[in-house]
This record gives sequence, structure tokens and C-alpha cells, in this order.
Amino acid sequence: MKQLVIAIDGYSSCGKSTTAKAVAAELGYAYIDTGAMYRAVTLYLLEHSIGFEELPRIEQALHDMTISFKRNRRTGRNELCLDGEIREDEIRQMRISNSVSEVSVIPAVRHAMVRQQQRMGRKRGIVMDGRDIGTTVFPDAEVKIFMTADTRTRALRRQEELAVKGEQVELEAIIDNLVKRDHLDSTRAESPLRRAADAVLLDTSHITIDEQVDFVLERVSAVL
Ligand code: C5P
Repeated sequence: MKQLVIAIDGYSSCGKSTTAKAVAAELGYAYIDTGAMYRAVTLYLLEHSIGFEELPRIEQALHDMTISFKRNRRTGRNELCLDGEIREDEIRQMRISNSVSEVSVIPAVRHAMVRQQQRMGRKRGIVMDGRDIGTTVFPDAEVKIFMTADTRTRALRRQEELAVKGEQVELEAIIDNLVKRDHLDSTRAESPLRRAADAVLLDTSHITIDEQVDFVLERVSAVL
């Protein structure tokens, strides 16, 4: 059967990863969470005390660090590894969410991540979620979805995800983070968050995960 690239872009915490993961499992495709890669770069820079303006040190860091994904056989989850070590929990913490959009704006960071993502998807048969997959990483993706949802719904979902991991965060702080990140992500010069002309809009404010997955699978059926 034809192997497709499925690009799922959109605002923070709209349910992109949950949907993308389920679609990938249904189709037997690989799944790549590109946000995790930008989060890993942020974690690396913070841990090595590299300032976000120190371009030569950032370029060296991009050369030195290894970002990969490892499948956890027990949970079936794709876990992010930085220099071979699973760092899935750390990259989801608020301290990383609060800095990641300042790091993802740096052109050298974007170029390195986009190149790696294109390599990961060169055999196709992949679902990738992020901000610029349908516009920059795979402009030729056969299925492109652009997800959105109202801010409060997104913040409540994010708050619950953090609580499950033991981090209690005020709703206002989460809303503030989402709004700031969306603004930075949408206004940056290099591959900003925007809907590709051929992406289908999916508002997830009032629909279930199953409905989101069905919506994407229907688009897939239409092109297979
Ligand atoms: O998807 P997630 O919320 O984990 O992404 C974290 C951040 O990584 C985003 O706010 C954005 O700044 C950056 N990002 C990006 N391009 C992508 C995926 C994520 O700039 N393709």
C-alpha cells in the first residue's frame, strides 16, 4: 500500500500528539513528535548553561548533541532520548515550556531539526506533529491537518497532563504560557506556525480524541 506522510500542525496543547500517535498506531506508521526535539535542545542548552544568544556555542551544541526516539515496549510510547538517555519527563516540565519558543526561533536550531526530521521521514509511512511540518518539513505531505482549540480547553488539558506527572500548575500560568508560545511561534521569521494553504482545519474544542482520530483517518482514506 502507498506510504504517506501525514503532517499534523497547530497550536500548543490541541491534542496533536494524542491524535498523531493513535493515527500512527492504526496505520502501522512511525510517529515523530517534533516538539519534543525542540524541547530537548532547550534542555541541553539550559543544562550546559549556554545562553540563547550565544550562537557559536549553540552551533557547537547542535553538532555535539544526539536527539533520538526509543520505543518503550511496555507502554508503546516513543520516548525522547538526549545523548542516548531517556529525558521524556524533564522535557515536559514547565521550565522547558517557558523557554522552548525562545530556542525554536533560532534559525540554526530550526535548520538542524528540520534536516533531521526530513531524514526521519524520507521512507514515508510517518505521522509527524509540530508547527511547520506541512509548510516546511514536508510541504509535499499527502495529508495535512491544522489543529486549533479554544485557549481555556487547551490549558485545562495541559494542566491535567502536568498533574498526572506530579507537577501542579495554576491555570493562569498555563494560559499565559500557551498564549506567549503561540504568539512567538506564529510571529517568528523562520518557518512560523501557520496553516498551509492545503491543510484541513480541525477545531478540537468540542470533540473527543476518537472523533479527532476518525477525522484524520477519513482524510487518509480519501488519498489512499
Ligand atoms: O508541541 P510542543 O508544545 O511540545 O512544542 C514545543 C515548542 O516547540 C513549540 O511551542 C514551538 O516553539 C516549538 N516547535 C516548533 N516547531 C515544531 C514543533 C515545535 O517550533 N515543528
